[in-house]
Formats: sequence, C-alpha cells, structure tokens
Amino acid sequence: MTDSPTPSTGDHAADRVIIFDTTLRDGEQSPGATMTLDEKIRIATLLDEMGVDVIEAGFPIASDGDFEAVSEVARVVKDATVCGLARASKNDIQRAWDALKHAKKPRIHTFIGTSPLHREHQLSMDKAQVLEKIRETVTFARSLCNDVQWSPMDATRTEHDYLVEAVTIAVECGATTINIPDTVGYTAPGESAELIRMLLREVPGLDKCIIATHCHNDLGMATANALAAVEAGARQIECTINGLGERAGNTALEEVVMAMKVRPDIMPFHTGIDTTKIMGLSRIVATVSGFPVQFNKAIVGKNAFAHESGIHQDGMLKHAGTFEIMRPEDVGLTESNLVMGKHSGRAAFKDKLAQLGLDIGDNAFQEAFVRFKALADAKKEVYDDDIVALIEDTETSRAHTRFQVIAVEGTFGTGVQKAKIVMEIDGEERVAEESGDGPVDASFNAIKALIPHTARLQLYQVSAVTHGTDAQAEVSVRMEEDGKLVTGHAAHTDTMVASIRAYVNALNKLMIRREKSAPEPMQQAG
Ligand code: KIV
Ligand code: ZN
Repeated sequence: MTDSPTPSTGDHAADRVIIFDTTLRDGEQSPGATMTLDEKIRIATLLDEMGVDVIEAGFPIASDGDFEAVSEVARVVKDATVCGLARASKNDIQRAWDALKHAKKPRIHTFIGTSPLHREHQLSMDKAQVLEKIRETVTFARSLCNDVQWSPMDATRTEHDYLVEAVTIAVECGATTINIPDTVGYTAPGESAELIRMLLREVPGLDKCIIATHCHNDLGMATANALAAVEAGARQIECTINGLGERAGNTALEEVVMAMKVRPDIMPFHTGIDTTKIMGLSRIVATVSGFPVQFNKAIVGKNAFAHESGIHQDGMLKHAGTFEIMRPEDVGLTESNLVMGKHSGRAAFKDKLAQLGLDIGDNAFQEAFVRFKALADAKKEVYDDDIVALIEDTETSRAHTRFQVIAVEGTFGTGVQKAKIVMEIDGEERVAEESGDGPVDASFNAIKALIPHTARLQLYQVSAVTHGTDAQAEVSVRMEEDGKLVTGHAAHTDTMVASIRAYVNALNKLMIRREKSAPEPMQQAG
C-alpha cells in the first residue's frame, strides 16, 4: 500500500478547483482518436507542465497498450496525480494498481453503473448486488492505494434515494473522491447543481471527500453543467482538451478554466492551470487525435479571437476590450507574427521555438532546422502556426521510421492520373507507379503496391495551416484494420506530399500495432 497522503491532490482551499484531465482516457475513447505511446507520453508531460492536478492516463485492463501507457505516464509525470480507470472487479483494480504503483502520486478510479438501465441491461444485477460490489471493490482499491476515486456511472439517471445509498457505501469504504458522472450528457445546469446539493445534504461524511463532476456534451451543456456543480460544492472538474471524447465529447478543459478566470465575480474559484499553455496543447491534441478543432470553438477555435465585421474591427482598433473579454495571449495565442525568412539562423529559430513553448531535443532540433530552411525557401512568409505544424511533423516522422517517403512524382490534371513514389522500406529503396481516380487515389494506390495492406481509409482530411495559396497543407488520415484504428499526420506546402506522408505515417503506426497485436478491445467506459 502506498503511503501517499489522502487525497494526493490535497489542496483544500475552499475555492480551489482540481482539474482532472481525461484526454488520454475518455478523450481517447472517441472512435478513431487512438494515440500511440509516444503521443500519450508527450501529452501527459505537457498536461503536467500546464498544471493539471490529475491526469487520467488510461484503462489498464483494456489492452496491453493501455497498461503500458498508464505505467509509462506514471513514471514520467512529475507533479500531477496519475490515475487509472478500473471497472468494479478486483482483477481490473489490481491491473490498474500494477500500472500505477510507480507514480509519485497514484490514484485508482473505479466505477459501476447505478441507473436502472445500467443495472438491468448492462450489468444484469439488482440494486443489492450493485451495492455489494461497491463495498467489495472500493474496500479492495483502498487496500492498495490511499487515493481512490469512485464513480456511479450514469448518476444523473439514477434514482436519488438509491444514489444516496451507493455514495454512502463508497464513502464508508474509504473513497477519497466521489465523482458524479453525467455519462450520457442528459442533465442541465440547475439539475446538475441540485444533485450535488442533495448528495451533500444526504450522504454522511461526503463533505470530507472531494466531489467531482464529469459531464458529457450530448446536449451542448457540459461546460455549464460542470460549472453549476462547482457552484453547488463540487471541487473537481473532469475534462478534456478541446472537449475531446465519445459522441459529443466531454467538458472542455479550456472552457471551464477560462470561464472561472474571466468571471471571478460570479465564479469565485481558481485552478492551478497556466492558461498560456492552452493553445499549444489544443493544437497538439487536435493533430495527434485527428479531430480538428471547429473554427468557432470557444477559446481555441481559429476564429475565437478573429474580428471580421467593420464595427468590431473599428472597436478593436480603439480599445481591445470593446469586443474581447480575454486577451489572446492569456490562452497562449501569440500574434501570428511573421517569423524569419531563409536568412534566419539557428539562434533565431531556437528562440522562436522557446517563445512558442516547443521543447525538442538536440537531434530533433537539427532536423527541424533543416526543414525550416526548406519551408522558408518554399514559402514567402513563415508564421508561428507554420512552425508549430513543422515541429509536429518532424516529431511524428521521427517516431515511426520503418517506411519513409523519399520522392514523389505525379501526372495530374484532366488526363490520366498517375503517381510514382520512391520509398525506403526496412532500409531498402523501392519504387512503384500506379494510376487512380485522382492524384490522392493514385498516390495511395502506389503506396499500397509497395506496402500491401488491408486497412480501410476511414478519413482523409486536409486543412490549411495559415492563409494564402502558399500555405502549408496539414493532412490527417485515419485507417482501420481488424477493428484497430490508427491516425497519421503530416504538413507540407505541397498538398500531395503532405497526403502521402500522412498515409505512410498511419501505415507505420499500423505496423507497430500489428507487432504488439493488442487483445481485442473490451467494452469501454462512458
Ligand atoms: O462518463 C462516464 O460515466 C465515465 C465514467 C467511467 C466516469 O467516463
Ligand atoms: Zn465519461
């Protein structure tokens, strides 16, 4: 049993809200948002640096890959509590603990469905059986770890008197955080607050625990519901970067954090988040997950700080406060400055990376600098967003190198569409030329001739990194083979080169998944 204090986040100041990030667990459960081990470690490190209090790193029993990810995150994270999810079974809980036990501050999070629908149809258990399971599993989790979080899944559709009974048992058995999930995004702000107040009134000893709120966004109310719960006494918000998550997603971290920062007059709470790191993390999560941020998304959308109409622009020129309620730099949005051109040296490039919070190792820096020079040659103006995309691309291609694109040639236009691709495959140079229904199809056919596979392309998405016809194209692809999903990404001033590299990046990841041949995915949590 660990001797970490209880609970490990420990900040009991009355107005301090614990930020529990579940991008790597609930976020990763969005179909297609699968992340590699390296990507998870990178995101966890950045979340830790941003000041997130608890990082839910995965569901260790779900697969060997999940187990490995949780244990690696547990090893690298310096300050945050690292949490692993477990169903209400001793096996699950033991597996979570095995993955977490090296963490400086470990937390086991165990859950069971409590609503009538979940009891009857998912668990085939009656009320008494569920209560017994709660007693058994929370007690077992506490025998391993001092920091135990318990969740009644689908709490917002559970009978109130039964929810009180269930939470009372979890508290008696030593849960230190009680999380109240709105698993299907069904509640509304008034009800969300009332539920927390009711539990605080009815459950003996609940005021000694941290109460958490975990909201899904099916009706677009996840942020409002989470903040309402805080107003009623919850002191932990469970959320994800960009609101990533199953179906309509989870509460967006950036929204709740900025709401409390911008309106302390009506929401007198604070977090430990360094908000200037929000934009960087948002970009990385969007790239890695293959889920782009909608343009008008609050806080992190491309248009969140753009002012188009004449009246707004006029107001902004006179005083930014006329149409802006927060400063772009507070969320880490630097003016999309014109950066250096092809004459800029290493020192200036290094400076720029530091300014953008992009911390890469020496070897990666050398490679990124060479790519930057090539980009500055190809593009008249290099913006901050270009640099961010370039670093992403460098990191992505460095991580997976079994297949590499060496050269690309194409015959495109209204006639025959052909692509010739030269690749290095396991150290050997190979060439293929294929035709297709358009340049992308021809290129992907040529790659398939070189790397035979049965994966199905599920998503092919292109977006411009900045404006102008010389902008870099950022391409994401998602592929599926035997139920396993992988995403690939790349950026380049030539859309076809970016497309081909993104496709090859996905294939590299697919090979890693095949080698690991993870067991069949289990039924996931909400
Ligand atoms: O939405 C949900 O109920 C969950 C639980 C596992 C907390 O994600
Ligand atoms: Zn959830």
